[in-house]
Amino acid sequence: MDGKDLTICKLGGSVITFKDKPLTPNIKAITGLAKALFKFDGKLVIIHGGGSFGHYMASRFGLGQSPAKTSPEAVAMTRYSMLELHLTVLRIFLDAGLTVYSVPLSGMMNQRLPSRQKMEALVNYTDTGLIPMTFGDVIVSRTGSYIVSGDQIARLLSKHLRPRRVLFVLDVDGIYQDPEKTTLLRELKIAKTTNLIFSKGKIDVTGGIERKVKEASRIANMGIDVSFVNGLVPQRLLDAAQGKNPIGTVLKGRKVAPLSNSR
Ligand SMILES: Nc1ncnc2c1ncn2[C@@H]1O[C@H](COP(=O)(O)OP(=O)(O)OP(=O)(O)O)[C@@H](O)[C@H]1O
Ligand SMILES: [Mg+2]
Repeated sequence: MDGKDLTICKLGGSVITFKDKPLTPNIKAITGLAKALFKFDGKLVIIHGGGSFGHYMASRFGLGQSPAKTSPEAVAMTRYSMLELHLTVLRIFLDAGLTVYSVPLSGMMNQRLPSRQKMEALVNYTDTGLIPMTFGDVIVSRTGSYIVSGDQIARLLSKHLRPRRVLFVLDVDGIYQDPEKTTLLRELKIAKTTNLIFSKGKIDVTGGIERKVKEASRIANMGIDVSFVNGLVPQRLLDAAQGKNPIGTVLKGRKVAPLSNSR
């Protein structure tokens, strides 16, 4: 699969919700993102995070990233809260003229991982003018229930769809060198991603910014460029999607050596 003209965009829960206010979407921010993406002329696959919906419910009920026996109530309520947020995002995007089409991760699962065929089918949706939208989700397996984060989904989809670029949209300007968030890194090298110091973020059951940077460096290792931009300034998202270099952090994809013709 080669998604040369495809962009994968992960809308962070930090932007689309107020992460410290349980079950509160940031309608103004979601509307800004939708208006910006409406102006983007290219194929898109969108993933959104859990913010104060999914993370709040998951931590309240003790759901995490490893399969564990949990109460059916934990699973049902976490799923329900994600769907509530998902519907809010879908509605606002539809109203802005974006033909988003909901594809829950659970509908893509094959045992513990999303099935390759089902992930690849997302490109067929984009061919018909639809914008597939999925979200960090709670998964039920024989060994227990667990959360798959939107950041992980971005990496899994990147592996199979090979997008031109991946955008992580946050509520801060990008990745900072220091936990006080004073020095914004305009460019981040894959080798440097392990030297950063992160502040303990708001409630996040899936590893927060540290895990996000790990997933991003795995994407960059596939040769795909990754950008981190502040979604509270929607023009930056549009600029990054169009391959410009707005304020934000760029993690350049590892150069893949061209195949040698010599025998
Ligand atoms: N060094 C750093 N650089 C950038 N952000 C940082 C850093 N240290 C901590 N953060 C925090 O990480 C947060 C973003 O990660 P977080 O996982 O909370 O959000 P998200 O992924 O957008 O939300 P969700 O997981 O719900 O989708 C920012 O709000 C920021 O305050
Ligand atoms: Mg997160």
